Amino acid sequence: MTDPVTSLAEHYRRQCGSELDPHFHGEAWLREAFLAVPREHFVPDRVWWPQRGADGQYPLMDRTRRPRQWLKAVYRPGAPLITQIEDGAVLPEAPAGSDAFTSSISCARVVVTMLRHLGPQPGETVLEIGTGTGYSTALLCHRLGDEAVTSIEVDAGLAATAAHNLKGLGLSPRLVTGDGTYGYAARAPYDRHISTACVQRVPTTWLQQIRAVGRILTPLTTPLGTDALLTLTTDNAGGATGQLLTAVNFMLLRSQRRRQPWKELGWPRLADFHVRIDHDGQHIGVPPP
Ligand SMILES: C[S@@+](CC[C@H](N)C(=O)[O-])C[C@H]1O[C@@H](n2cnc3c(N)ncnc32)[C@H](O)[C@@H]1O
Repeated sequence: MTDPVTSLAEHYRRQCGSELDPHFHGEAWLREAFLAVPREHFVPDRVWWPQRGADGQYPLMDRTRRPRQWLKAVYRPGAPLITQIEDGAVLPEAPAGSDAFTSSISCARVVVTMLRHLGPQPGETVLEIGTGTGYSTALLCHRLGDEAVTSIEVDAGLAATAAHNLKGLGLSPRLVTGDGTYGYAARAPYDRHISTACVQRVPTTWLQQIRAVGRILTPLTTPLGTDALLTLTTDNAGGATGQLLTAVNFMLLRSQRRRQPWKELGWPRLADFHVRIDHDGQHIGVPPP
């Protein structure tokens, strides 16, 4: 008997690709990569849905017991799936009460948006922080070739599973188990750097390991109740400038879990946001630093 997941997966992938159409922004390579890489291959058999059910618990999606529900969840464009809670202390055996999510496969829409802003070009190298399941690593391999991709995961169990997932598709990027806060000097400099874990402060080592003029893309915590995607372009003097692109939500880089005061992170006070209302509408801004 044919596995219902295998026979339906391509159909759901195409459907999800169509729904993501505006997010590809006409980038053919990105659409091709999305359609070529089987997202379901990277999703564990049991994952948690990211919203609480009526019982107040995060429901468990089980590939074996409810294959169609699991596969639909895999290809919901806006749904991340939780693959680890409390660094693995909560086992994926039942719905979960804890919201201390420590790893996920990011939702397809955010993965595509991040890769579009990263804009990797053939011939370039990339360093990824947060291998997770290995899904976004596989998309990078599709674009750049395995040799150009380095990915670091801090959690040894997740790193081993990602290595297995990638190998299963015949992919062999350089995978490193360790703390991505320090980047990976052995293969520096890189043309592009992407983090799939959120920072409060961009580690200076990331800037040092990027070619001038290179790009860094990372989620950044903000005092406005959401994280935001930050893009930075490095200069020739060891610095970088950039902007916030869009609201996202990510788990914190493990080494930066202890919250720091916003002021120490360089954020303006809320009182520094200026609001003006005139006949053109409402305008909100902060003076540049
Ligand atoms: C949103 S998940 C990764 C999603 C992944 N790109 C995928 O496609 O499945 C973020 C990952 O960052 C990892 N992480 C957190 N802190 C880290 C650190 N200091 N160094 C490397 N990885 C880290 C977490 O363990 C987690 O697996």
